[in-house]
Amino acid sequence: MNPINHVAIIMDGNGRWGLKHKNSRNAGHKEGLKTVEKIIKETIKNKIKYLTLYAFSTENWKRPKKEINYLFDLLEVFLKSKIDDLNKQNIRLKIIGFKKFSKKLNKLLELSEKKTFKNKKLQINLALNYGSKFEIVNAFKNLCKNNDKINLKNMNKYLLTKNIPDPDMLIRTGNTKRLSNFLLWQLAYSEIYFEKKLWPDFNEKDYNKILNKFKKIKRNFGKI
Ligand code: FPP
Repeated sequence: MNPINHVAIIMDGNGRWGLKHKNSRNAGHKEGLKTVEKIIKETIKNKIKYLTLYAFSTENWKRPKKEINYLFDLLEVFLKSKIDDLNKQNIRLKIIGFKKFSKKLNKLLELSEKKTFKNKKLQINLALNYGSKFEIVNAFKNLCKNNDKINLKNMNKYLLTKNIPDPDMLIRTGNTKRLSNFLLWQLAYSEIYFEKKLWPDFNEKDYNKILNKFKKIKRNFGKI
């Protein structure tokens, strides 16, 4: 049985769900947040140590302002109402991405990270304003600036995922098969599972099915 230490998820399909059920993309994001909470609970139950969620990409800035504002408002309400609860549950929240938001949100994100910094049960990495290509260029730039030797170990030191083990698996919901500039470096040897369901329809049973599938596969890492 393969142990599972780190699950990464591209939570795709909120917009389509919202349009289909409520004629509003934003309603899909609101519903998607409920799935986030379910999956966090189930991740803890499965004793998984890292959960990385793609919440907003560097490309998502191209969306209408109304949708962007809605997403960040949702995040703000979520953090304000849940961070103490996450803290009590021994969960650490880490933002991976480039913190270029409103002053108010930047402050809230930093406070949430600080508050939960020492927690050990589960680390949730929220990818916000995250783009993998930019992350890699940025890491390489800093490595060169510091005159560090160019090698894998040093590259890892400059990535936003420093000190975080690579994901064992990536799950993408929403019936689309692409990586969308997510963790391109870190996913080099991860198992990838594409799920047809839209993110708001994805549930604990679907998640456990994928986790169980992963536990049974043979991972070779290039060997035979
Ligand atoms: C992708 O679906 C989803 C997003 C860009 C946002 C993800 C946000 C949530 C799950 C809810 C908020 C989460 C937090 C932590 C506050 P899409 O909009 O691209 O869907 P589509 O492919 O159907 O258009």
